[in-house]
Amino acid sequence: LNYAEPFRPQYHFSPSKNWMNDPSGLLYHNGTYHLFFQYNPADFVWGNMSWGHATSKDLTHWDERPVALLARGYPEEVTEMYFTGSAVADVNNTSGFGVDGKTPLVAMYTSMYPIEQDLPSGKHVRKEQQSQSIAYSLDEGETWTTYDAENPVIHNPPSGYEDEFQNFRDPFVFWHHDTQKWISVTTIASVHKLAIWTSDDLKEWTFASEFGPYNAVGGVWECPNLFQLPIKGDPSNKKWVMVLGLNPGGPPGTVGSGTQYFIGDFDGSTFKADSDNVYPGNDTSNWMDWGPDFYAAASYNGLPEGEVIQIAWMNNWQYGAAIPTDPWRSAMSIPRRLSLEKVDGKVTLLQQPHESWKSVSKHNGSKHSWKSVSEGSTSLDAPGKAFKIDLTFADHESDDSRASAFAISVRATSGFDQETLVGYNFTSKEVFVDRQHSGNVSFDKTFATLYHTPLTASADGRVNLQVFVDWSSVEVLGGKGEVSLTAQIFPDEDATEARLVSVDGVTKDVKLQIHKINSAWH
Ligand code: FRU
Repeated sequence: LNYAEPFRPQYHFSPSKNWMNDPSGLLYHNGTYHLFFQYNPADFVWGNMSWGHATSKDLTHWDERPVALLARGYPEEVTEMYFTGSAVADVNNTSGFGVDGKTPLVAMYTSMYPIEQDLPSGKHVRKEQQSQSIAYSLDEGETWTTYDAENPVIHNPPSGYEDEFQNFRDPFVFWHHDTQKWISVTTIASVHKLAIWTSDDLKEWTFASEFGPYNAVGGVWECPNLFQLPIKGDPSNKKWVMVLGLNPGGPPGTVGSGTQYFIGDFDGSTFKADSDNVYPGNDTSNWMDWGPDFYAAASYNGLPEGEVIQIAWMNNWQYGAAIPTDPWRSAMSIPRRLSLEKVDGKVTLLQQPHESWKSVSKHNGSKHSWKSVSEGSTSLDAPGKAFKIDLTFADHESDDSRASAFAISVRATSGFDQETLVGYNFTSKEVFVDRQHSGNVSFDKTFATLYHTPLTASADGRVNLQVFVDWSSVEVLGGKGEVSLTAQIFPDEDATEARLVSVDGVTKDVKLQIHKINSAWH
């Protein structure tokens, strides 16, 4: 394996070769984190959709496994593709797939049928129909058997939406403890609705309810994800969070795909968003991430109650197939631990990185502090190409002496003709990532952009940023993790410099810590 090609992520998962999109089945079982993903076994553009597979013990070091579900008929004539879905461990063997006391792992996915056909189950599907099917594994996810006797187990969209049979997909399945049932959330993509289904055995499904459209309704709705979390400081009060992807129609200032969420309640059949999470006029929404490269976010099944870890596809349908990487395309975001906490009086979803940092970042990092960073640029020791930064500074109202913006420039060339800026605008109170001059931006006309998100300073008047830089990405978490901004970058190999930039005045009480991150691939 050569994980040193230009732009190869060093602590983010990417397949050794070929195209990857959505996480499709995140399952923790028997001490192993499984990551299944949309994968083209033949090429580094989308096609022949199959389920790739990787495993990890710590969500940091990954081992790529053989393809789990290979598009049916590949390579001659593909008659069924395995689109996005999810996976569970059926520990009570409700499905009956378990034999000799083995726990079956069950995957639920969208079957996309490129041609009209009669299936072994006797069911008939039309050209480009999307239906939901299941498969099981009795060997820890290494090999899978599709349930051909009955597949697809959800043949058609719910009644009233029969015409949407080509836009019905992405089942997110999980065990609902209170009702002792399996739940599956699917999308009826073009009408901006989710359909929720329940089952006792993962095989027979009953339509329960629909959700939507609310808030952002650009393009199609895809890739739903539903989970429960306690509210910090009020742990008996638990809420449900529904996450879904829009393509196109991401956050303001982005082009292409993006991810929104709703906080609300779920009783085992209906999800109801809290009234303060539904905004009139569909013109605003809760964005999971305000950058361009965070899509199809999904959470792990099989974790202890109250623990939610999410991974997203760190790419964008706008230019995903044009990014200048070879022989693979796409990486996953860092795994993020989610929590709920009241921020400014409102229950808010927070994100924190969940990597095994100790195993890839041996030193305490270099620490710097300044009472005042003067106007202009302040040089820093070159941190290299993979590192994480903790940056904090005092917020202020801008005036004659105080800066209008403060930023750290990363992945910069020595002459700073290439650099990516991560910083804060004191006037608009926004965190930004500016990749306009980040390196190769020529492959898509929308790529060279500055992205931004509102962030209020913390109660002690400080702006806190965590920045995760890898060979071709920047992820920023602001505050306690209430905002996130993810963007790919494609700088030159020698873009290893960094500096601080204080615009139009000084920035006070700056503290900076930089931790170098070693490759997770050896
Ligand atoms: C979203 C998506 C899903 C679909 C998959 C196909 O990224 O369009 O809706 O299942 O990709 O690869």
